[in-house]
Amino acid sequence: MSDQLGGKSEAGPVAEPLASLEEWEDFLVERYPQPKENSEFRDYGTNVKPGVREFYRQNHTQQTLDFVLAKKREYVGTTRREMSIWEAMEFLNTLVDDSDPDTDLSQIEHLMQTSEAIRADGHPRWFILTGLIHDLGKILCLFGEPQWAVVGDTFPVGCRYSNKIVFPEFFDENPDSKVAEYQTPNGIYSTGCGFDEIHLSWGHDEYLYHVVKDYLPEEGLAMIRYHSFYPAHREGEYTHLMNEKDRRLMEWVKKFNPYDLYSKGHQPPDVKKLTPFYQDLIAEFFPPKLAW
Ligand SMILES: [Fe+2]
Ligand SMILES: [Fe+2]
Repeated sequence: MSDQLGGKSEAGPVAEPLASLEEWEDFLVERYPQPKENSEFRDYGTNVKPGVREFYRQNHTQQTLDFVLAKKREYVGTTRREMSIWEAMEFLNTLVDDSDPDTDLSQIEHLMQTSEAIRADGHPRWFILTGLIHDLGKILCLFGEPQWAVVGDTFPVGCRYSNKIVFPEFFDENPDSKVAEYQTPNGIYSTGCGFDEIHLSWGHDEYLYHVVKDYLPEEGLAMIRYHSFYPAHREGEYTHLMNEKDRRLMEWVKKFNPYDLYSKGHQPPDVKKLTPFYQDLIAEFFPPKLAW
């Protein structure tokens, strides 16, 4: 490419050794592989990039209860496209995702990296399949949704914000913080009502849950729906809204989380070779077309 540009690169920016700073972070995760429970890995710290900070500001100020309810009316039980799981994977592959820049792998490679790590540990087939599909909800970006309404740590809306949510100060600018009814510990919910009854901030987790909810065991569905609910599964918050089922299923969400966070940076999977295995696995659980 630089040959064709005929020396233009000399006037351009100097090439850096790392494609992104996240490559260094990936290296650290590789070098110090087994973080203890509740480690500070997702504590973005003082060196957080301005873009990441701005992303959280947008997310925390605009994810209101009204917004979440509007997105559910728009996306739950409605159809934009009929696609197989595999077609959705290929569709997602057309997305270049700023929110997950710590890999230069394609989206399909990232999906298979997660599922292959689960498979290597001898977990059941539904668990492997859950790993494969867990981020397919990111196609919301391709339906025109802004990043702050697709990714990010999720949190309940309609009740008090935990101060263990990353960048809690940004909630001061969320209109819901001025609604007294939403700022008690239970808010619009009741003690022990269960996570099925609460509205989490809208994003790829909740969206995909509704697309696939008829086809996977409840443990896999919980992994999909709550994998970004870090305030609950990593920080131990919102236990007062949990019921017995949530306490049981949250153990599976915790089991899934390391595969999501720490399976990046290993060998890129051989997508071509793995495709027949995954097409069989998809056909075992899913109909040929789903409503997206
Ligand atoms: Fe995700
Ligand atoms: Fe993921």
